[in-house]
Amino acid sequence: MSTREIGVAIIGYGGMGRAHSFGYAATPVMAALPVRPVVRVITGRDAEKVAAAARAYGIPEWTTDWRSVLDRPDIDLVDICTPPGTHAAIAASAAAAGKAVMCEKPLATSYAEARAAVAAVDEAGVLNAIGFNYRRLPAIGLMKRMVDDGAIGDVRLWRATWLSDEFTDPSVPFDWRFERWQGGTTIADLGAHLLDMALWMVGPIAEVAAQSSTFIRQRSVPGGSRNVEIDDASAGLITFTSGAQGRIEMARSAVRRPCDFTVELNGSHGTLFFDYARLNELWFGDGADRMDLYGMRRIRAEHPTHPHASQLWPIGQGIGYGESFVDQVADLMHAWDAGRFDPDFAQGARVQAVCDALELAARDRRWVRLTEITEAAVAPIGRPAD
Ligand SMILES: NC(=O)c1ccc[n+]([C@@H]2O[C@H](COP(=O)([O-])OP(=O)(O)OC[C@H]3O[C@@H](n4cnc5c(N)ncnc54)[C@H](O)[C@@H]3O)[C@@H](O)[C@H]2O)c1
Repeated sequence: MSTREIGVAIIGYGGMGRAHSFGYAATPVMAALPVRPVVRVITGRDAEKVAAAARAYGIPEWTTDWRSVLDRPDIDLVDICTPPGTHAAIAASAAAAGKAVMCEKPLATSYAEARAAVAAVDEAGVLNAIGFNYRRLPAIGLMKRMVDDGAIGDVRLWRATWLSDEFTDPSVPFDWRFERWQGGTTIADLGAHLLDMALWMVGPIAEVAAQSSTFIRQRSVPGGSRNVEIDDASAGLITFTSGAQGRIEMARSAVRRPCDFTVELNGSHGTLFFDYARLNELWFGDGADRMDLYGMRRIRAEHPTHPHASQLWPIGQGIGYGESFVDQVADLMHAWDAGRFDPDFAQGARVQAVCDALELAARDRRWVRLTEITEAAVAPIGRPAD
């Protein structure tokens, strides 16, 4: 294990601040790394809560002023775990200060802001990464590798769903997730991960059609209520430039569905299917199999020959959500000296373009070509975080 340290500042102590802290703490235990991440400070707006988080996550310092970490020479990497509407501005400030940036998904809440974030990291020439952590699950990595190796032939159909029950209870009060500029949309919140996988495995998207609904239109705020500004559930049709078809559904209004996502690819001579509730498995239907074996094969996607699996637990022990952050940190540390990480902000912007296209298609009830989004004038960066 290298003793060269990479000083990390985590911006935001909520769910993802916790997940990323776990990743940085656990990765040196699991993987041989060329450089060692050391989280030096965590930030948040509520002093009491961020102090408690720092204690719980084992981080020596905390602050309520995220900008204060940018001047510190002992911070090399700024890891952004705040609401999406704040990402682009924080990323641009961190890049301008010469820091590498890891940003949670979605990169921004509009393509224009996402492009501005890409421009900021490009101009500064800093390593940039976007947190599409599910790519790092061995089963998803294996799915990608099998597609690339031609295991299912030419991809004809891509299908993905993400169902959660986060918004089913009308008594859940208004917070950033319901505010368009801060939270983005359900399309972006849940769909971003799926669309990253679609672009990664199938290739560029030419056009989309979509529908969106907001079932619970008002949420409580102290002393009253506010209109919900985003969709509870959306679905889309996709045409890839390869000619493949795609279908996507994302809903935060699916009762008793906690965080259920599936991805399926049907190729010219095979099928691959992943179900997150059984994340150590990948299903493979091979058109070349004997007819009397007709069906799908359950691959135990934890063999050391599978992507990332050799740095995780022995086969049969299984992994979970946490290990996706271990693999993400390990890959980031391995990318450190080269200064490039995949997926980067440019991929975050490509995904955001599809999210914007789906939102526009649902609003206007028509097919939207991706070029309508990507060739529109780039507006200035969004509101800075407070
Ligand atoms: N990759 C994943 O599996 C995954 C899962 C959940 C959320 N996310 C993403 O992570 C990000 C954070 O989500 P979360 O669930 O951790 O949220 P959260 O509400 O639990 O935490 C948000 C944090 O951001 C801070 N914050 C809020 N507004 C801020 C502002 N204006 N300026 C600076 N800090 C601010 C809060 O103090 C808090 O520390 C979002 O982009 C979300 O889409 C990713």
